[in-house]
Amino acid sequence: MRQPLVAGNWKMNGSRKSVETLLNGIKSGMGEVRVAEVAVAAPFVYIPQAQSLLDGSAVSWGGQDLSTEAAGAFTGEISPGMLKAAGCTYALVGHSERRQYFGESDDGVNRKTRAALESVIIPVVCIGETESEREAGETFSVLDKQIRLGLEGVSLRGPQDLVVAYEPVWAIGTGKTATRDQAQEAHAFIREQLAKALGSDLAAGIRILYGGSVKPDNVKELMAMPDIDGALVGGASLKPEIFAEIIHFGA
Ligand code: PGA
Repeated sequence: MRQPLVAGNWKMNGSRKSVETLLNGIKSGMGEVRVAEVAVAAPFVYIPQAQSLLDGSAVSWGGQDLSTEAAGAFTGEISPGMLKAAGCTYALVGHSERRQYFGESDDGVNRKTRAALESVIIPVVCIGETESEREAGETFSVLDKQIRLGLEGVSLRGPQDLVVAYEPVWAIGTGKTATRDQAQEAHAFIREQLAKALGSDLAAGIRILYGGSVKPDNVKELMAMPDIDGALVGGASLKPEIFAEIIHFGA
């Protein structure tokens, strides 16, 4: 009932030329058999290019962040409405790099999540513990807090309105992946917390992606776990042939 989603997070990478090559490669790598819905989160300046190359294809696109504000004197910000007008389906919210380097707080995540929903953009709310939090046995309390505060007062029309990405910070860009059992344990816990925050019917239908060094050789075993509904892929999403393998769960 939950259609898997594989989303590429390009981070601050790409040129006009490389984006063209990458998007054409992803389109041709989609193939006929579609096991997962596919999306890319592009740097803002490449979103119009994504729109023109992906329009009418099976690949969706989105931003890597968005403003809480609709318009006005907010230098440097991009509003949810602007993303919507550029055809975005998704926006990442609260990626750990934004939390770590740009002071994104759970309150900011909450306001961005609501702002996205108001503009009918699906927020991909990113959560996850750092290595020291895991070692201190705080993984579940961190996830609980990020969900409780991040989703406080959020109301959804249906489970398709929200995506959550569990990205253990120690697994991002490090080549260290959570084992499938570690990931499943966290995903099951997240789903329980979503049930407390939003009700069990919605929680049962919300997609929870795993992110952190997802590669063609580990995607299959992760995707086989009952509460893992897709992947948020960083580094490996920049190479079309590798991303294509991940879209097909490494097959
Ligand atoms: P990675 O990044 O796949 O390069 O570990 C994942 C992410 O940051 O979303």
